Amino acid sequence: MREKLMQEFERIYGGTEDVRVFFAPGRVNMIGEHTDYNGGHVFPCALTIGTYAAARRNGMDTCRFYSMNFEHLGIIYADLDELVYDKEKDWANYPMGIIAKLQEAGIAVDEGMDFVFCGNIPNSSGLSSSASIEVLTAFACRELFGFEMDFVEISKLSQKAENQFIGVNCGIMDQFAIAMGKKDHAIFLDTADLSYEYAPLVLENAKIVIACSNKKRGLGDSKYNERRSECEAALALLQTKKDIKSLGELSEAEFEEIKDVIGDEVKIRRAKHAVYENQRTIRAVAALKANDVKTFGELMNASHVSLRDDYEVTGIELDTLVETAWTVEGVIGSRMTGAGFGGCTVSIVREDCVDNFIQTVGETYKNKIGYAADFYVVDIGSGPVELN
Ligand code: GLA
Repeated sequence: MREKLMQEFERIYGGTEDVRVFFAPGRVNMIGEHTDYNGGHVFPCALTIGTYAAARRNGMDTCRFYSMNFEHLGIIYADLDELVYDKEKDWANYPMGIIAKLQEAGIAVDEGMDFVFCGNIPNSSGLSSSASIEVLTAFACRELFGFEMDFVEISKLSQKAENQFIGVNCGIMDQFAIAMGKKDHAIFLDTADLSYEYAPLVLENAKIVIACSNKKRGLGDSKYNERRSECEAALALLQTKKDIKSLGELSEAEFEEIKDVIGDEVKIRRAKHAVYENQRTIRAVAALKANDVKTFGELMNASHVSLRDDYEVTGIELDTLVETAWTVEGVIGSRMTGAGFGGCTVSIVREDCVDNFIQTVGETYKNKIGYAADFYVVDIGSGPVELN
């Protein structure tokens, strides 16, 4: 990959002196969905697929961005003193947002850079190609300019760029999982205070299989922000009954006791999901630590049901993938992963059943939805690295 990027860099900008190549992964969340902006727990892991960038400082006051995934868009230019969101600049808004937030944090990114990006995360799949390019850009800037910023800070800055520059009110999960990824481990993160713990995710005789629905969506045009406001509205009412800072502080029983104050059936279901999903995540990690993959899988299934019925972020594509998966031999657990509204599902499948799983779920999906899903048997990788 390094060679490929270097060649492309040479072709696009001419010369590869001082060019360095960096990588940041994508992520998949095993359980704990739509809990990260509700002060709850998440359990994501970094993947070995992700985004690569060849980059150098260019001695100008302009940044140049080029992506091998969007060749038709050519080089996108952005002046250092004019880093504002611009729809015309398309995907380049992600790295632009990072540089703008670095400047805002008082870090002297006072020279332009040239970038060639190349990613192997399917776009709009829900495997966080956007958080991956954000964390990658922050990491590359840190290395090229030599300032200090640890990976937790990088993840916070990247989330800020997504919230304030791109305008998607996401939580911290994706950026954190990508910046802090560890090979063969998932991250049990408490989003209330960012305390975290790595848990080994080496599944004996089983594989993690991602099924991509190929239903395209971006978070910007999804109902993501709407779900977030619904939870905030529910929380405000619950706070009149109990002294809590987030939905993540409530147990199921505590929620049931005071939920009626929310007064609106839909908002009760949204908040219920956030509370129950958080508790499921805590239980799922405990089960995994006790080597009880069966219970972990059952909690994954319950997570999907809650996202389908109470949070309503699945849709026919994801439901077809998951509900078919549940009927296939050797499936330990299956659920949608990420924001929903399209994107991917994640399943734990017994190794000897993976081929049949892909064939059966693939066929049913194509027959029902009219186009094919893609399947990836994935490995858990580590966080950002420089490729030498
Ligand atoms: C997206 C957001 C995350 C998280 C998930 C849902 O991936 O970026 O912050 O909220 O959706 O769990």
